[in-house]
Amino acid sequence: MKSIVILISGRGSNMEALLQARLPARTAAVISNRPEAAGLALASSRGVTTEVVDHRAFEARERFDAALTERIERARPDLVVLAGFMRVLGDEFVRHFEGRLLNIHPSLLPLFPGLHTHRRALAAGVRVHGCSVHFVTTHLDGGPIVIQAAVPVLLGDSEETLAARVLAQEHRIYPQAVRWFLEGRLHFGADGRLVVDAPEDAGGFLIAPALSQAEAND
Ligand code: GRF
Repeated sequence: MKSIVILISGRGSNMEALLQARLPARTAAVISNRPEAAGLALASSRGVTTEVVDHRAFEARERFDAALTERIERARPDLVVLAGFMRVLGDEFVRHFEGRLLNIHPSLLPLFPGLHTHRRALAAGVRVHGCSVHFVTTHLDGGPIVIQAAVPVLLGDSEETLAARVLAQEHRIYPQAVRWFLEGRLHFGADGRLVVDAPEDAGGFLIAPALSQAEAND
């Protein structure tokens, strides 16, 4: 059976969605760079091995990256899943895992890479916002996109209400993307573009839920 390692820094709701999704893989470990991450207890309660590689214990970023690489490789995972992992990883780390490293980002990339995506979406006045799962490359939040979900931006939205609407979609698309990876459905064409060989009933590559105003305000 294939195995995955999930990296977190905090709450761990995406990690939980992955653990609940009955993916065709064993979660070999959940690793956090923060000992206080709430997701660690959640993972333990589900019987998953947890580890902490505290970035504050390392003077140089490269040392942290090397320690993290070593911990991950001990588990020999087929895929490394960044689920709210809030450290920028160095080029060496990314190259080491390239092609087997996925991230979820709370915007419709390439819009709003980096932090505070919901605040920036509101400030920009976009009517549609969302989330993206992508392969990680050395270009920050710029790797090949696997799946995206769109949500409306509603009148009266705050950063929090918009974030919650996006998060609900993150929990749908991340398990889907990981499942596609594990099933061998993600391929890179000769031109370097990602081809998703998805079954027709997968709901398409773009999930765009038609939320009514009432549902969105729930
Ligand atoms: C998510 O919005 C994710 O897209 C972003 O950080 C947040 C993590 O949430 N990178 P959680 O820890 O998965 O609940």
